[in-house]
Order: sequence, then structure tokens, then C-alpha cells
Amino acid sequence: MPDDCHLIGAAALCKQGAILFERPFMTEPRIADHPIDAHILERWSPRSFDASELTEAELNTLFEAARWAPSAYNYQPWRFAWALRGDAYWDDYVSALMPFNASWASKASALLFILSDRMIVPPGKSEPQPAGTASFDAGAAWGLMALQATKLGLSTHAMAGFDPVRAAQVTHAGDRYKVEVAVAIGRRGDVSALPEALQSREGPSGRLPVKEISFNGRRA
Ligand SMILES: Cc1cc2nc3c(=O)[nH]c(=O)nc-3n(C[C@H](O)[C@H](O)[C@H](O)COP(=O)(O)O)c2cc1C
Repeated sequence: MPDDCHLIGAAALCKQGAILFERPFMTEPRIADHPIDAHILERWSPRSFDASELTEAELNTLFEAARWAPSAYNYQPWRFAWALRGDAYWDDYVSALMPFNASWASKASALLFILSDRMIVPPGKSEPQPAGTASFDAGAAWGLMALQATKLGLSTHAMAGFDPVRAAQVTHAGDRYKVEVAVAIGRRGDVSALPEALQSREGPSGRLPVKEISFNGRRA
């Protein structure tokens, strides 16, 4: 392995961000270089889901976790449009995903579109103005939701691969709301149910080391 690469979890990551190789599914657990809460490491994004049932109550627990995220002015720009497997919205939601994502995410138990409010009425103002941090804030909410899901034994997989026009149609997002991302939620299924090309990618991936993503004062 070249000197500028760092082995962590299932991959070797190099300074340029290149992934040298991915190791097979779950050959080893993720290892943190600094002490962190264990369930942060337990979260990863599978593509094999078991198509089991998820209840609205379970989904609400995820939204509950998400809503405690911080946001600029506590404006809470996140919105969660959801469909449970087999309900009246399910097929429409699947149809808004890019075909590759639809091929595996259609086995999830729930599909979400996370929307963000593009406009904000800041304290002391009466007119809405463009919100500069709505996407950032919605991302924070997604992070909390994903960790809460892990804690419940559920898996999540975010997807940027969707048709934004179709997603806005099926969710009735309207002009004010941006559809940020789609998310598949469910319980992990058998790896063997995936096409061969995806089987070797089914497992926890690595990360850049802390010393490459943080700097004191000035970027090196
Ligand atoms: C905003 C966002 C968009 C993503 N889009 C896709 C996607 O369209 N299809 C896909 O298979 N995975 C997608 N992913 C999953 C990432 O590839 C995955 O999170 C990343 O490789 C890290 O792996 P981990 O989540 O298992 O730790 C996306 C993740 C995020 C956060």
C-alpha cells in the first residue's frame, strides 16, 4: 500500500481521496482512531433490505430524533415526506429514484424525501428571505435520524440519485421547498440477494483520518 494511504475499516483511503480497494463484507469492524460512541461506528449504509414492515410509530421515533437537531435561528427547515412499503404513495416514491437506486431501495421498509425550506423569516423581520443554511440544517437532522435508526436496529441509506422534478411532484414539495435527498430505511437483508457487483460493496467503509480533515488555524 502506498505511504500516503491509510487503512481503515473496509477500505484504503489515500491523500487524494482515492479509494484503493474495498474489502469484502464485514471482514472486520470499523475502528476509530479516537474514542467515540460505539453506535456512530455501527451505522453504515446497506443496499440489501429485507422488505419487512416498519410502523409509523418507528418512523416517528426517527423524526423525533431529527427534530432536535440545531438550526440557524432554530428555524427547523427540515421536512420529511415519507411512504411505507406498499402504501398508496410507495410506487410513486420508488418511481422518483434513479433506476440503480430503485433496484435495491425498493426492498426497503420506508422511503423518505428530506425537504428543506428555502426561505426564512429571521427574528425581527416580517418578510421571508432566502435561507442560507437550510441544506446544512437538514443535513444535521438527517445525521441524528440515521444514528437513532442504528440505535433501533434499523439501517438507513441516503440517495442523491433521484429525479428532483419527479420527487417534487410526488411529494407536492412546491417551489419553496427543495428536495435534498431520498433515504431508504429498513432492516438489513441477505447480501446474497444483491447482484454480484454490489455484494463486495456491502459493508462498512473507511474514512479519512482526523489529521487530514482537521487543522489548527490554517489549512495546510
Ligand atoms: C447525500 C448523500 C447522497 C448519497 N447518494 C447515494 C446514491 O444515490 N446511491 C447510493 O447507492 N448511495 C448513496 N449515498 C451513500 C454513500 O455512498 C455512503 O453514505 C458513503 O459511501 C459512506 O458509507 P456509509 O454510509 O456506509 O458509512 C449517499 C449518501 C449521502 C450522504
